[in-house]
Amino acid sequence: MAAAGSKFIPKVVLSSSAGQRSMPVLGFGTASDSTDATLVKTAALEAIKLGYRHFDTASLYGSELALGEAIAEALKLGFVGSRDELFITSKLWLNDAHPHLVIPALQKSLQNLQLEYLDLYLVHWPISAKPGKVQLPVKQEDIIPMDYKSVWADMEESQRLGLTKAIGVSNFSTKKLQNLLSFATIPPAVNQVEMNTIWQQEKLTEFCKANNIIVTAYSPLGAKGTPWGSNHVLDNKVLKDIALARGKTVAQVSLRWIYEQGATSVPKSYNKDRLKENLEIFDWELTEEDLQKISQLPQKKFILNVTLGNGIDPNFLQELWDGEL
Ligand code: A2P
Repeated sequence: MAAAGSKFIPKVVLSSSAGQRSMPVLGFGTASDSTDATLVKTAALEAIKLGYRHFDTASLYGSELALGEAIAEALKLGFVGSRDELFITSKLWLNDAHPHLVIPALQKSLQNLQLEYLDLYLVHWPISAKPGKVQLPVKQEDIIPMDYKSVWADMEESQRLGLTKAIGVSNFSTKKLQNLLSFATIPPAVNQVEMNTIWQQEKLTEFCKANNIIVTAYSPLGAKGTPWGSNHVLDNKVLKDIALARGKTVAQVSLRWIYEQGATSVPKSYNKDRLKENLEIFDWELTEEDLQKISQLPQKKFILNVTLGNGIDPNFLQELWDGEL
């Protein structure tokens, strides 16, 4: 049973991937403070039925097991013809961002997801933490500068071994990407970052375009309802007016805007109606006037220190984002 939506979600090719893998531009996000496995599994199955084929998780999120169960069930029930039709991303957590820990961490994610390969494996943050128990927020004294060359060599090895079709990064500034590109044999295919109408990432998006790196927007709707997000996107007056004029919702305007920037996005919703709503952005356009108004929205980065907590040294944060705040 092929779901109707899957036909309408455009795809982008990941340039440095094995076999020129392509990624659906809209995915099912699972960055949530809810760890209710039944909720995640039910929503993921609904999403597959609606046509979602791209699923975003991370070892940190606690959603890999539930997502794995949903995928196995969807395959068993014939909601998707084969594993190959799905695009699955997971991420390397800080404690495992060390030489020789990368591949075991990826194998653990594969085991959780009941998969033989990922489509995309991302370095979650450009920092490492002492190997061992995951603690959130990460304590300043546990943070270790990343050995980029060795970690990336292991990421490349994981692609060569066929454990993932593509590799990339998350939360990397242009400066950190530039450094990575200077020695990478397999350049990162993706940089997943906070991106929405209130944090538009113009400079980073341009840099990524020029370097064949696909940008994936996390918190595309401002992560409303989570401890790290707020209603700053969904309650924005300018976006509300545009939505009203187009006969769309603010969420649709926000996701359409990201798509029109050439970026991909992974909105999180565990609600069937909103999952459907978020898919309905491919058969209309924002007008020049809409784009102009959105380009003038005051900008603010919201996701600064969810991983690192509030007690973090402000100088460390400036360095983490290389002043791109
Ligand atoms: P829910 O899971 O109840 O749908 P982000 O993707 O930026 O992290 O935002 C996620 C938040 O936005 C969640 O609270 C999610 O709630 C909510 N959300 C997702 N889609 C929509 C939508 N179409 N309209 C309103 N809220 C939405």
